[in-house]
Amino acid sequence: MILDVDTGFDDAFAVLFAAMSKEINLLGITCVDGNTNVDQVVKNTLIVLDAAGAGEIPVAKGATRPLVEEPLYAEHIHGADGMGDLGLPESKRKIDSRSAIDLLRDLVEGSKEAVTLVPVAPLTNIANFITTYPESAKKLKEICLMGGSASVGNATAMAEFNIWHDPEAADIVFRSGIPITMYGLDVFYHPLVTESEAVQLQRSSNQSAQFAGKLLQACIKKLKQNVTLGDYGAVAAVLRPALLKTEVFDVGVEVAHGLVRGMTVVDRRPRLELMIEPRRIPGAARTNVVLDLDAKAFKDLWFTTVDSNWI
Ligand code: BDR
Ligand code: CA
Repeated sequence: MILDVDTGFDDAFAVLFAAMSKEINLLGITCVDGNTNVDQVVKNTLIVLDAAGAGEIPVAKGATRPLVEEPLYAEHIHGADGMGDLGLPESKRKIDSRSAIDLLRDLVEGSKEAVTLVPVAPLTNIANFITTYPESAKKLKEICLMGGSASVGNATAMAEFNIWHDPEAADIVFRSGIPITMYGLDVFYHPLVTESEAVQLQRSSNQSAQFAGKLLQACIKKLKQNVTLGDYGAVAAVLRPALLKTEVFDVGVEVAHGLVRGMTVVDRRPRLELMIEPRRIPGAARTNVVLDLDAKAFKDLWFTTVDSNWI
């Protein structure tokens, strides 16, 4: 597996899990501008790898801005440093000298098994990878991405943040022909953590759990509600497809500059193939859309992975 992140509270929960799970061979992580600027994203990602006690996992810097528009960050949610402004010590880990797309190419080409790519951030790096190294991109087994929605948005009424931040990039990815699973807002907020669970984690003797507990508490304090494990879900979706309810739909990305820019238009009309003139979304990708999941099982998997003492 390769992760593409804009770390971010919930990206941190995903990185921590992927680095600690014995079921995942985490080949590398690429970073992109999104929740905050990409240099901060790299710093945050390296800090999370320290907390996970991870070995050497290459981390590369990618796009500093979306393909077309100026970046719009989500620091009002994730804090000025993107990870809760906790004053966490910087990591001594070194960033990989390759660009994100070169690292993606090398990892995909160098892997004996087909690689699953899990982007939990705006899709700028992935679009650049597909357009620069199309032959390598075709070798991916699957892209399981956090992004989009078959219902409502969060960045705007109809658009989810990762797609809305760079709709042109998302459009390239959805049209690429690579098999896509969309883990979007229909399930993103399902695995919720309470304050007492966060406190219990922080009291653990494991540094990974202490770190996660601290981050979760900061997030709960900031948002004044239980918080989602968010991006982590896209990683768990790869491991536990049996815990998901999914359906395949045509999905297109709206790139026009109007009310619904960045919306993933999911064609949920029944029996699309039987319609005389279905007026299907031009260039739409047949996408595996996650509509529901077993939130308790998702939570249990995360807690028992990041805290070996969890009961
Ligand atoms: C997505 O946007 C970011 O704020 C989160 O990290 C997640 O990837 C949710 O819309
Ligand atoms: Ca993210």
